[in-house]
Amino acid sequence: MERWSGRVAVVTGASAGVGAAVLKALASHGMSVVGLARRKHRVKEMAEELQSQGCTGKVFAVRADISREEDILLAFSWIEKSLGGVDVFVNCASITSNVTLIEGRTEEWRRVLEVNLLGPLHLRQRSSQIDASAPSGRCAHYQHQQQHDE
Ligand SMILES: NC(=O)c1ccc[n+]([C@@H]2O[C@H](COP(=O)([O-])OP(=O)(O)OC[C@H]3O[C@@H](n4cnc5c(N)ncnc54)[C@H](OP(=O)(O)O)[C@@H]3O)[C@@H](O)[C@H]2O)c1
Repeated sequence: MERWSGRVAVVTGASAGVGAAVLKALASHGMSVVGLARRKHRVKEMAEELQSQGCTGKVFAVRADISREEDILLAFSWIEKSLGGVDVFVNCASITSNVTLIEGRTEEWRRVLEVNLLGPLHLRQRSSQIDASAPSGRCAHYQHQQQHDE
């Protein structure tokens, strides 16, 4: 894992669950990790906790709603300016909803589609700039799959 030390990673959904675990793991291997989430304060708390534990990596908390393209553009422009680019991108932000096709309200479906479908589309232009064939380039989208039988 030494080859990742000092490299830059971006993790979405970093405030909880899978994304938080990925952020901690990458930072503990010396990476500079930008944690994107709406609840930026939770990422900041994790950064402080990791620092107090002597973590070798750095954590930066950036507020972004992935369903809003302008948030993504702002976040990546900050990353470009402050850290110079991205080596590893892990998209863990998503929402789970039990709405059914027949009974679910359109508004609920719209939210699921905005976050789980449009979010990755907004992110893809940025993540596609990562050279996945380079030794340090990695890109992963982690998403929930749900099937409805109606
Ligand atoms: N946990 C598991 O074992 C597991 C297993 C298989 C699949 N999955 C799937 O993996 C996905 C993540 O699971 P999880 O357990 O990590 O969920 P989680 O604990 O609910 O975390 C979801 C993350 O997504 C972020 N998020 C949600 N909406 C967002 C938005 N509009 N913009 C930016 N960030 C947003 C949340 O951050 P903010 O609210 O702060 O924005 C949070 O950090 C889900 O789809 C889940 O179904 C999870």
